[in-house]
Amino acid sequence: MNILIVGSGARESAFIWKLSQSRKNINIFSINPNAGTQELSTPIYTQKEDLEFIKSKVVDLKIDMVLVGPEIPLIEGIQDYLKKDPITNNTAVIGPSKKGAQLEGSKDFAKNFMQKYNIPTAKYRSFSQTQIQDGLDYLETIKPPYVLKADGPAAGKGVLIIDNIIEAKTQLEEMLLGKFGESSKTVVVEEFLNGIEVSCFVLFDGKNYKVLPYAKDYKRIGENDTGLNTGGMGSVSPVPFLDKTLKQKIEDKIIKPTVEGIKNENIDYKGFIFIGLINVNNEPYVIEYNVRMGDPETQVVLSRLKNDFLDLLISCDNQTLDELEFEVDSNYFVNIVLASGGYPEKYEKGKVISGIESVEGSVIFHAGTLKKNDEVYTNGGRVLSVVSTAPNLKEALKKSYKTISKIQFQGKTFRKDIGFDL
Ligand code: AMP
Ligand code: GLY
Repeated sequence: MNILIVGSGARESAFIWKLSQSRKNINIFSINPNAGTQELSTPIYTQKEDLEFIKSKVVDLKIDMVLVGPEIPLIEGIQDYLKKDPITNNTAVIGPSKKGAQLEGSKDFAKNFMQKYNIPTAKYRSFSQTQIQDGLDYLETIKPPYVLKADGPAAGKGVLIIDNIIEAKTQLEEMLLGKFGESSKTVVVEEFLNGIEVSCFVLFDGKNYKVLPYAKDYKRIGENDTGLNTGGMGSVSPVPFLDKTLKQKIEDKIIKPTVEGIKNENIDYKGFIFIGLINVNNEPYVIEYNVRMGDPETQVVLSRLKNDFLDLLISCDNQTLDELEFEVDSNYFVNIVLASGGYPEKYEKGKVISGIESVEGSVIFHAGTLKKNDEVYTNGGRVLSVVSTAPNLKEALKKSYKTISKIQFQGKTFRKDIGFDL
């Protein structure tokens, strides 16, 4: 079976690592791989990684399945693009259609969906460019902090949380006037929810769904959850505060209505649903939907999964997920991200990374790395994910921090408090 992986971060490294353990005969191809994934897959290099290029590779390489890591190709409609062409419509795509991807691509679409299907989420209203005054008036009627969300994708920067009403009004106006380009021509203003966030992952085949292990992501750059938001600086699974009752509530009030809603809207959806939840006094609310797996959560979620990953993906495409049981390792898995100095703001690339080959007791997933003349260099903001496991959280963390002490590169940045709140 020929499988093409779209994306080249640590999430995709985890996909490829897990697929390479499959008992099935499988050829893995990856586009512009990093220093880690280039070893485990057949690399395809290109300057122009667009839908047309992906389709041409699907044809040339007789690809049977495309596994899409990041959201942008899904929001752009890669699934429809391949499925609507008679030459590529037999290729399985793990990822929803363009309409389904709107759950991530448009906050307004997602909020309307949640409202329609009675899925608990923060109260909100959406405003377009012609409704600036209505938006400013609405801010007067709600309590701070004010949450302003650009409707469209904004590389993780489109959500502002503001305490001061005057500042909130200024920002709302600036957003509607194009602060984030097209993405903020509509803005969702919503109520602030106070609680602990948790990531829920569902594999959905269009008929049946299966819940993957839950994980917690640490999004801020600074210790004690301070500083700027990042793509994610670490993750932990399982999540100790998620007991059976809370998981049941999540399934009944959020997961089931979400998949029923997708079916009811006739959305063609075979793939992962990532539900960003917040636990407010033991009541789960949806913060956001993503239509893909999360990074850095995938690195711990897939590490816990004992099933053959390819079986899962094939069942997803065949709509037979109901015939499959997930086998999950009950040990703790932690992932600590090593980032470049300066990230998530300006950072330098091209720093030599040493010590990876001597690592024992952790699994390293590459993200922004590049191999040149047998040396590995930094090549992005998030550089490596260091995953370790143990029967308890403390032991698992100790292993990852020990591994981190052996890996060196100029500017190496990481959070020393992953798991601190659990
Ligand atoms: P989003 O892109 O919608 O996930 O928002 C980015 C981050 O902003 C989330 O991970 C939360 O930490 C925070 N956030 C978003 N919406 C809210 C809300 N209604 N209340 C509190 N925090 C929020
Ligand atoms: N871990 C958050 C994300 O992948 O968006």
